[in-house]
Amino acid sequence: MEPLLDAAERLGREELQALQLERLRSSLRHAYAKVAHYRAAFDKAGLHPDDCRSLGDLARFPFTTKADLRENYPFGMFAVPQEDVRRIHASSGTTGRPTVVGYTESDLSMWADMVARSIRAAGGRPGHKVHVAYGYGLFTGGLGAHYGAERLGCTVIPASGGMTARQVQLIQDFRPEIIMLTPSYMLTLLDEFERQGVDPHSTSLKVGIFGAEPWTQEMRREIEGRFAIDAVDIYGLSEVIGPGVAQECVETKDGLHIWEDHFYPEVVDPLTGEVLPDGEEGELVLTSLTKEAMPVIRYRTRDLTRLLPGTARNFRRMERITGRSDDLVILRGVNLFPTQVEEIVLRTPALAPHFQLLLTREGRMDRLTVRAEARADATADARTAAARTVTAAVKDGIGVSVDVEVVDPGTLERSVGKFKRIVDRRPK
Ligand code: DLL
Repeated sequence: MEPLLDAAERLGREELQALQLERLRSSLRHAYAKVAHYRAAFDKAGLHPDDCRSLGDLARFPFTTKADLRENYPFGMFAVPQEDVRRIHASSGTTGRPTVVGYTESDLSMWADMVARSIRAAGGRPGHKVHVAYGYGLFTGGLGAHYGAERLGCTVIPASGGMTARQVQLIQDFRPEIIMLTPSYMLTLLDEFERQGVDPHSTSLKVGIFGAEPWTQEMRREIEGRFAIDAVDIYGLSEVIGPGVAQECVETKDGLHIWEDHFYPEVVDPLTGEVLPDGEEGELVLTSLTKEAMPVIRYRTRDLTRLLPGTARNFRRMERITGRSDDLVILRGVNLFPTQVEEIVLRTPALAPHFQLLLTREGRMDRLTVRAEARADATADARTAAARTVTAAVKDGIGVSVDVEVVDPGTLERSVGKFKRIVDRRPK
């Protein structure tokens, strides 16, 4: 398929870097002039926006964290008068105050452009029907996908999350080519197709654009095998804009191209904060280059990845996210991400792609139990063998002993959006 490109996608690296520097300087000036938090933070570091003379100079500027956003709740990080803010989104977070973000008219338009570009990179074209099953509301997934699909010239089906039986019917009746939702919710839909006796291979769907939570190559294989679709990865976060910061191209499926003309990436050592060279894994830090209502300077995403050179586009890529530092389980000194367990569970033939990690404490000892569902056709022997296989693979591959419980099909909780993989039952 012709990979139709917009003007910025055709820029060479040098032209792109010149554009980034110009935009970066203006974004720093805007933040410094209009947001008390940035003025105080830059002053404290003895820096002025004019000290940024090259892209590398950005590393001298202070980071912004979620705590900074919380301290300035609700509107303290906004850089424009309230009447110029056209929309608010918020991410709930598990504890305390939500993180609030704002958009001007021009921010909303840039966002729609970036999601349109993302859907196009995924194989979407004007005239396609796009079924959006990300949640609508304060979460950026639904509305972000919605306006991007409209901007591309698609027909949007704003299904939102939930009412899964009806989703299946809508897909059968309206025949969308594209679906956008979390990968875990796609698995819930899969169950529902099967429950209704509809062959998931027979649907009109050609492309699934999955994000908002970590997922693995094994999950891609599972989804692509069960539906006849291409499954590609979309990344973003509310603080930076929402979905559409980076997108995997359908023709290469080799990680996500970061839309670097609007979002400047760095990867830093999560402990020291030092900038790492491209290719090394660390925490992704993003700076908005054109945002008006809420510029973010060196925002620490807590997402772990590495930067790679461009392939299908000139923009650099990020490898699919291994996990968030928040989801890291440290078990008797060994680091474990749920995605590592996902790889193992999904490679085990007797197991369905549904699993949860249960954390408990006995005495002073933390225990991790992997609860995975058996496939409907798995015999008792196959289930016992599967439990043994997963235990051994976790021990060999990750280096820690876990308990594995293989449970009956359909017994684990199903996702309707972002899935909570870890159930922490340890006493606080
Ligand atoms: O989840 C925005 C979004 C909506 C992205 C729909 C993609 C699709 P937040 O609720 O602020 O925003 O959560 C952002 O979700 O820092 C990552 O930890 C995680 N995340 C988002 N996309 C991916 C992905 C939206 N493709 C947080 N892979 C981010 C792994 C992802 N994790």
